[in-house]
Amino acid sequence: MANQIIVNAKAEKSTISRMIYGHFAEHLGRCIYDGFYVGEDSKIPNVKGMRTDIIEALKKIKIPCLRWPGGCFADEYHWKDGIGPKESRPTMVNTHWGGVVENNHFGTHEFFELCEMLDAEPYICGNVGSGTVQEMSEWVEYMTFDGKSPMADLRRENGREEPWRLKYFGIGNENWNCGGRMRAEYYADEVSRYNLYARDYGENKLYRIGAGPRGANYKWTEVLMRDASMYLDAIALHYYTRIGDKIVISKLPDGNERYHTDSTKSRKSATNFDESQWFGVMQAAAFTEELVSKHTAIMDKYDPDKKVALIVDEWGTWFDNEPGTNPGFLYQQNTLRDAVSAGVSLNIFNNHADRIHMTNIAQTINVLQAMILTEGSKMVLTPTYHVYDMYKVHQDAKLLDFAMLSDDYVCDGETLKKVSCSISKDKEGAINATLVNVDPNEGAEVVCHIADFGKIGSVEGTVLTSDAMNTMNTFDNPNQLQPTGFTDFQVEGDKITIKMPPKSLVLISVKA
Ligand code: AHR
Repeated sequence: MANQIIVNAKAEKSTISRMIYGHFAEHLGRCIYDGFYVGEDSKIPNVKGMRTDIIEALKKIKIPCLRWPGGCFADEYHWKDGIGPKESRPTMVNTHWGGVVENNHFGTHEFFELCEMLDAEPYICGNVGSGTVQEMSEWVEYMTFDGKSPMADLRRENGREEPWRLKYFGIGNENWNCGGRMRAEYYADEVSRYNLYARDYGENKLYRIGAGPRGANYKWTEVLMRDASMYLDAIALHYYTRIGDKIVISKLPDGNERYHTDSTKSRKSATNFDESQWFGVMQAAAFTEELVSKHTAIMDKYDPDKKVALIVDEWGTWFDNEPGTNPGFLYQQNTLRDAVSAGVSLNIFNNHADRIHMTNIAQTINVLQAMILTEGSKMVLTPTYHVYDMYKVHQDAKLLDFAMLSDDYVCDGETLKKVSCSISKDKEGAINATLVNVDPNEGAEVVCHIADFGKIGSVEGTVLTSDAMNTMNTFDNPNQLQPTGFTDFQVEGDKITIKMPPKSLVLISVKA
């Protein structure tokens, strides 16, 4: 059977929010310090302590938003420690991540400065797990209150006259575990309470994001939608692409269930793997479709008009840390396998753009499935970075409806769809299709019919692929894997026949 796509150029669906291409920066390992922020006295070129090479690289992929300060760190972060003169900011121990001392030199002001430099929307996650309603309420007042008030005056004392504009605000993180080990019912009450005192000041309207479930914890979504969705703009799913990750359900004495992970045995090397581990990651990435569909079905029950969005504000691959690095720093290399699995996931997110408003891959620099790795003044753009570069054509474009047939990719007797894609139409009317072939052994011929487009004027292609499954960019060889021009396609009337290499991502851009 051939792989076939039939797309109608006029069958526009939802807009693919550019926020689907969002990122995440936690005080974890070397993401902030030694990543984004090197300090003003560093010899590495910087503006106000932020690395200029990193800012440029992220602007190139049009980073639309950045989530901060965590993750688990958010639920033990006390924002007042991160304001005022740097030398007098108190220190704390980052107990979640490596037990290192956090000097709080990167705080609220620095985060907003970073977002301004990146031209990205700030997304701040507040502390529910170990904070108080008052602390969260005062943080919102500090950031967004225009008039005279204790917190707005404190902000002015610290050098910022005008309030910042803050839209995206998270009310806790993973409150089923590191954010307070709460039951869904308890969190639903807490999120409603905290939310009430996180005020909208003046023109500033918060977009309120509740901490959603981990993976297949459908009960969490059910309870949150039932009991708290009337106060929320979105709920945030977390799903890491790990091999053989298991969700363990413990029954509590009151009959409720608590979900946690048994993943201790499942993490594997990021760079040294065989085909069955390649398959495992692709299977885990493809599972995103089931997760998103099932959570969406629950949301549809309570919110058929899709007023409450699904956000996936943590996702990506999670492997063993690189040998010789602090296990609490979650530093992992990044190969073609990461790139291909990111392509699979991003296609799924695009295709669910009617419900998904934002996603934030974890994490931007030096942590998990990073865009950028640093070593002193050196910087490497990972294969995953290049996927974001290729897929940026979808940002704020119209998702197009399509039908697809795909061959199977078989490994160890298990099957997966070999080819996946998403297709959008940009403001100029160009059609962009991002195709992924997960089969590491065989190429894929894909026949794509474009109806209702008129005469095809030009077709351009870009490909990301390599001979080895684990090709990566290193500090010694930073450009081993990069997108290149792709011409292995033929146009005949409204039909384009694309010959995808094994284990590849292909972008096809069609203009009238
Ligand atoms: O991204 C790393 C961690 O994974 C985050 O801090 C947490 O929210 C999740 O468990």
